[in-house]
Amino acid sequence: FQVPKPKNEPIKAYREGSEEKKSLKAKLKELKNEQIEIPLIIGGKEVRTGDLGKCVMPHNHSHVLATYHKAGEKEVQMAIDAALKAWKEWSTTPWEHRVAVFLRMAELLSGPYRDILNGATMLNQSKNVFQAEIDSACELTDFYRFNSYYAYQMYTEQPMYSPQGTWNRLEYRPLEGFIFAVTPFNFTSIAGNLPTAPVLMGNVSLWKPASSAVFSAYKLMQLFKEAGLPDGVINFIPGSGGKVGNPVLASEHLAGIHFTGSTATFQHMWRTVGTNISKYKSYPRIVGETGGKDFIFAHASADLDALVAATVRGAFEYQGQKCSAASRMYVPESIWPKFKDMLLDEIKTIKMGDVEDFTNFMNAVIDRAAFETIKGYIDYAKDSSDAEILIGGKCDDSVGYFIEPTVILTTNPHFKTMEEEIFGPVLTIYVYKDNEYEEALELCDNTSPYALTGAVFANDRKAIEIAEKKLTHTAGNFYINDKPTGAVVGQQPFGGGRASGTNDKAGSLLNLLRWVSQRTIKENF
Ligand code: SER
Repeated sequence: FQVPKPKNEPIKAYREGSEEKKSLKAKLKELKNEQIEIPLIIGGKEVRTGDLGKCVMPHNHSHVLATYHKAGEKEVQMAIDAALKAWKEWSTTPWEHRVAVFLRMAELLSGPYRDILNGATMLNQSKNVFQAEIDSACELTDFYRFNSYYAYQMYTEQPMYSPQGTWNRLEYRPLEGFIFAVTPFNFTSIAGNLPTAPVLMGNVSLWKPASSAVFSAYKLMQLFKEAGLPDGVINFIPGSGGKVGNPVLASEHLAGIHFTGSTATFQHMWRTVGTNISKYKSYPRIVGETGGKDFIFAHASADLDALVAATVRGAFEYQGQKCSAASRMYVPESIWPKFKDMLLDEIKTIKMGDVEDFTNFMNAVIDRAAFETIKGYIDYAKDSSDAEILIGGKCDDSVGYFIEPTVILTTNPHFKTMEEEIFGPVLTIYVYKDNEYEEALELCDNTSPYALTGAVFANDRKAIEIAEKKLTHTAGNFYINDKPTGAVVGQQPFGGGRASGTNDKAGSLLNLLRWVSQRTIKENF
């Protein structure tokens, strides 16, 4: 059994008049009118609690896509029992069979499930067609194919030396217990990766998807089932963070956490695990990716066309709701006037609106809470004497949660919007003196507690070297002359350090190693 090194799933263009566009359009119509009631899935069985939440379309919030049942303490206990039952068989299933399920998931996702997941992601999370395609179709297919390949490498390459008369081995055992996967709204690929990566290594999981993305998460559960994942291996328990999280974290069988979401939630979970530490059978593995305050840093030698394109895409694609989105920028005085004109001209061309019009570059932010938070930052900048709004700033929630692409210029490098994560289409720019390049890089390094992504633009090779060195710990994904978003599985493994997470790169061998416990075996002949 061999798993060849995969290639990345090609991106489809959905051109006007193409068959793929017609097919996706038809699926959008169907999904919009499905009006399903989503159950919990525990041990393969549908469970209904009657405590209902709603999935709405952020760009048209009066349209309810689906309702969903929320889990409480009783259902959490049922899910733990079901997971532990499934563990007995799944943890001893040969890795080749587990990989086969994942390769089947990849085939289904890149084929018959492509429209379903793209459509659900567009409607439920307000992503334009291109953003959905690179997420739920390409990135998630890549996660399944590349993780399968890394698992194959791990299981087939025995790294230990055995002198004559002995046999030394490393065995990769699944963890004892279950993994708690908590997933965000902003990437269906992350939602599809966090509960599954541990499962590939023989673990079982409880999965709490983001409340604002339950519709697309449920479509993923259907994909797992169709690919042949046995009942109980992944248990689907949407609900409120505390009601689901507290009983899960109090279980002695918690073996690990696979998390992407806010820094505050991750730190809360970590503290709760600390409080419960003597209850657990083993020390839980904690893997998390949280916030960012990602930067674009321009040198005077930067190519302005490339810089403008990267700034617009890095800051405003998916309404700035990628954890990798550029939200602070450093520009030298010498290029600022020209760059400013070019940037504002480009932003003026941005179209914003419904996801069903494929020409819209931006859509709505995820929900009312996000809308209010982002608006709060914009209002703060409007009222402040050391900042001005260069473009945008309008927020309109009458139909959907729409916020214009907004650029703030500040004279204060520690201005609130230079330091805090906003998670919306707001970019703050600070202009530095050309002869203070190194000082400005130091400022970039120590302005924010986060260290997820960042980009440097320069044609001068020496300037690149200096930036790479000065910003060694400022970003886990560091881009030179490219935008800080859009990491590709198998090419730029994704994750950051400091307050941004544990940096156990998603879709990598390192990540898979977190979900196994090694046994060293020595046998004498
Ligand atoms: N992996 C995404 C990106 O690189 C963010 O989660 O943009």
